[in-house]
Amino acid sequence: MTSPRKLHIKSYGCQMNVYDAQRMVDTLAPEGFVETASAEDADFVILNTCHIREKASEKVYSELGRLRTMKEEAARDGRQVNIAVAGCVAQAEGEEIIRRAPVVDIVVGPQSYHHLPQLLDRARRDGRALETEFPVEDKFGFLPAPKPDAIRARGISAFVTVQEGCDKFCTFCVVPYTRGAEVSRPIAKVVDDVKRLVDNGVREITLIGQNVNAYHGEGPDGKSWPLGKLLDHLAGIEGVLRLRYSTSHPLDVDDSLIESHRDNPALMPFVHLPVQSGSDRILAAMNRRHTAAEYLDVIERFRRARQDIAFSSDFIVGFPGETAQDFAATLALVTQIGYAAAYSFKYSPRPGTPAADMQETVSQAEMEERLQRLQHLIDSQQSAFNLAAIGTTVDVLFERGARKEGQIVGRTAFLQPAHVMASPDIIGKILPVHVESLERYSLLGHLATPAYAAQPAESRMTTGA
Ligand code: SAH
Ligand code: SF4
Ligand code: F3S
Repeated sequence: MTSPRKLHIKSYGCQMNVYDAQRMVDTLAPEGFVETASAEDADFVILNTCHIREKASEKVYSELGRLRTMKEEAARDGRQVNIAVAGCVAQAEGEEIIRRAPVVDIVVGPQSYHHLPQLLDRARRDGRALETEFPVEDKFGFLPAPKPDAIRARGISAFVTVQEGCDKFCTFCVVPYTRGAEVSRPIAKVVDDVKRLVDNGVREITLIGQNVNAYHGEGPDGKSWPLGKLLDHLAGIEGVLRLRYSTSHPLDVDDSLIESHRDNPALMPFVHLPVQSGSDRILAAMNRRHTAAEYLDVIERFRRARQDIAFSSDFIVGFPGETAQDFAATLALVTQIGYAAAYSFKYSPRPGTPAADMQETVSQAEMEERLQRLQHLIDSQQSAFNLAAIGTTVDVLFERGARKEGQIVGRTAFLQPAHVMASPDIIGKILPVHVESLERYSLLGHLATPAYAAQPAESRMTTGA
């Protein structure tokens, strides 16, 4: 019997890369590959890359330097190691990667992961294999479904890609070029995936897409269904306790989504709704196609439907032409909305995007200063949001044992980690927790349902069999 070949995948960037990495594992499992946590003992290493900002894409090349030494050492021991670059850098740079880093055998774009076994054969035969076309076939139809043991090992919460690609062409962004045009998967395929996941213990599903609320998959009635209708349909599947979606664009928030937030209790009241800037001038230059006031209107529509709803967002500081006044408008918008969390980034010009041709006007020092101020404001909003939970009782979906013995960790509706001392039987259940204190970003408390509370060791001995 031949021993299994070992596969190591390192993912950067967004949740879609995390999901894609799992699909790659599922694709290579029938070829005899098992996953390993360390690159050092792998026969096949895949870097699943992100191109969104310069820092993200440069990480790949420093990692490839490290892998070169590793590959050479393995070759001295008579062991062949293959190295692939997948993801958005692969799509954006293609062959250039092999020119810059000859250690790479395979370059594979996000639309071609179902061809990995053939690409690996080709690389072993010819020394090189490259595929970055956008094929006409639907890759989802060819990616194998995860096996039950793989699903169970991955836990209570899972991602399902429902939409991929983007047609928005924000002027700073590479995604429309690296992920291609927007496509939605049919409802029936999504339902199949979700059923398979919940049958194997998953309780929370996050539907993902680069622009997930542009979803328009074909329904069983032959009509195109919006995201809200899909979410309502999935809530009817037994075992689905919680639903989320990410990432949404303010322009594509339609009534079906708002109504789902109003009527569908499985849909969590926490929405990631990136706005990037609070200045209309900058929003126009970014081609976001809405104003700050229109964004506030969208927020209001959500709030009217579900009054406990909370928001997170993304911001870019230092976009070309951003003045102190534009930046002040961003701070004012953040102050007005009050976020539960948010991510902020310094503008990074990306090759091939329209903004890369714009004159940069904000110095690095200025950008750094604006980033600090924005992050400080966001941090204070996040702390206030977390502090407000103390003394209240919140529903927590329990996911796994924590580092501290006897402690179980789960998440609230707002993705705050919550820790309690309890029996592991609570994993996979939603139970009310009385929140007592805060430790950094985690809530600490005790179960408000005594049935599952941890018993002291002595009583466990006396009441045990
Ligand atoms: N599809 C999502 C976000 C995709 S990228 C959306 O439309 O909102 C995630 C975040 O990275 C973006 O929201 C943006 O804030 C940031 N980002 C994208 N391109 C960037 C660039 N060139 N420089 C700095 N940040 C960028
Ligand atoms: Fe990029 Fe804009 Fe599309 Fe988001 S909506 S992925 S920021 S082009
Ligand atoms: Fe990065 Fe590609 Fe995701 S550029 S953020 S990995 S879509």
